[in-house]
Amino acid sequence: MKFITGLIVGIVLVPVALYVYFLSGRAPVRVSDPPLPLERFLAMTAIHARAEKEMPASVPLQANEATYLAGAEVYRHHCGGCHGLLNRPESPLVRAMSPSPPQLLEPNSMVTDDPPGETFWVAKNGIRLSGMPSSQAALSEEQLWQVSLMLANADKLPDTVKQALTFVPPPAPAAPASGPAKK
Ligand code: HEC
Repeated sequence: MKFITGLIVGIVLVPVALYVYFLSGRAPVRVSDPPLPLERFLAMTAIHARAEKEMPASVPLQANEATYLAGAEVYRHHCGGCHGLLNRPESPLVRAMSPSPPQLLEPNSMVTDDPPGETFWVAKNGIRLSGMPSSQAALSEEQLWQVSLMLANADKLPDTVKQALTFVPPPAPAAPASGPAKK
């Protein structure tokens, strides 16, 4: 009897305590707050398990220079703003996000150990409650494979592809036109 009472109290008390904690205005919801204990571990386990379960088993494209070049083009326009380009200082946008986007072209943040199908799944479906968008509506399946294969081989890309992934600084603003302003 004592055990059952304890069990019921536990089942009721834990969610109530959590609710009170969230109501208290102290829960870590700012970007500068550290994550809750186990938050990152639980989220990564869930994402990984779902991607593994649903990712396509076979890769429909050849991993070659033409694919990587096409992937680099996709990356520049759809991913690089968050995940970084070669030779570009980390953007303030990246620092202002939590979780912050891994810099997928930097050796210690590459996804070269993941099967390309997992990157394909993540890029296609996105990750809820993070800044990672779903590219399903913006990119074709072919483009998603191109960028996934490029990222899976990011540690051994030919120079042509590296060049296509290198940041080009925008031109300096033109000098103001001289002469009287036109009405
Ligand atoms: C608006 C910013 C943003 C854009 C654009 C974006 N991502 Fe992400 N991405 C994120 C964030 C934030 C995470 C981290 C999510 C997390 O940790 O839960 C992420 C995570 C990932 C991961 C998981 C990395 C890992 O270590 O497991 C992959 C792969 C990825 N993105 C690929 C892409 C690709 C490919 C594109 C372009 C088609 C893209 N992302 C566009 C923000 C972005």
